[in-house]
Amino acid sequence: MTHFLDIHTTSPADLRGIIDMAASMKTARAGLPKGTPDADQPLANHMVALIFEKPSTRTRISFDVGVRQMGGETMVLSGKDMQLGHGETIADTARVLSRYVDLIMIRTFEEQTLLEMAEYASVPVINGLTDRTHPCQIMADILTFEEHSGPIKGKKVVWSGDGNNVFASFAHAAKQFDFDLVFTGPETLQPEAALDGLYTTERNPDIAVQGADLVVTDTWVSMHDPQSARERRHNQLRGYQVNAGLMAKAKPDALFMHCLPAHRDDEATSEVMDGPRSVIWDEAENRMHAQKAVLRYCLGT
Ligand code: CP
Ligand code: NVA
Repeated sequence: MTHFLDIHTTSPADLRGIIDMAASMKTARAGLPKGTPDADQPLANHMVALIFEKPSTRTRISFDVGVRQMGGETMVLSGKDMQLGHGETIADTARVLSRYVDLIMIRTFEEQTLLEMAEYASVPVINGLTDRTHPCQIMADILTFEEHSGPIKGKKVVWSGDGNNVFASFAHAAKQFDFDLVFTGPETLQPEAALDGLYTTERNPDIAVQGADLVVTDTWVSMHDPQSARERRHNQLRGYQVNAGLMAKAKPDALFMHCLPAHRDDEATSEVMDGPRSVIWDEAENRMHAQKAVLRYCLGT
């Protein structure tokens, strides 16, 4: 069974194969209307369940359209409308779904939910974000970086802001794809200790971004963070906003990324988001291309 649960649990060779497949599939359908079927229909006759226990725009639509382009069928399910949200166990849900569908993608809160789904499902499971990681996002980000700036190996990536779930997948990717990752953010929002050794820390953002090939940030308040923490987080993170002044200290051709959704003029200014170094819309588009390759990897098609 080939799941896609995290970047660090997928081999560097497999990750590279997924990125290369995504790039060639994207090229093959360049310029075609979005609903045009892919010529080879690699997911023909396949049924895919997309389960969301948290909101989503990109993950939901990019998986849905991507599966359909490849000839498969999807059902988009809200966790709270399933018995899952009313006490049925993850294990039982996994066993039942495996009798109906060929693959399960789940966005959830605790990582344990994802792991249990994978343990008890007899079909592949894909991680569509948990409180701890967001591997599909980072596959899209690597694809996007390499489209614009060439191989990511040996490059310098700087994360400014909260040491959150998206950062964690970047940290896993730094090891698997062999690039340097610097975290700049407050000590109180340092990434979890399990990631130690995968990145370095520089508290001063102006110093951190020197020589950066890519500057990345994300929302200051994630879906799993209590709204009551909003003001405190903003106060802690204000100094780590990605603005034109900070971008000017990175390499002149440094890219800017944000997984979206953004809170404009909080974690990044509109000037940067809409500026010449920003690749945020390519990043969003590439969710679909990267995930199409992840789906084929999992299903062996
Ligand atoms: N970046 C991302 O995962 O976006 P959604 O929450 O809209 O899926
Ligand atoms: N860190 C954000 C990412 C959203 C795609 C969150 O978990 O809410």
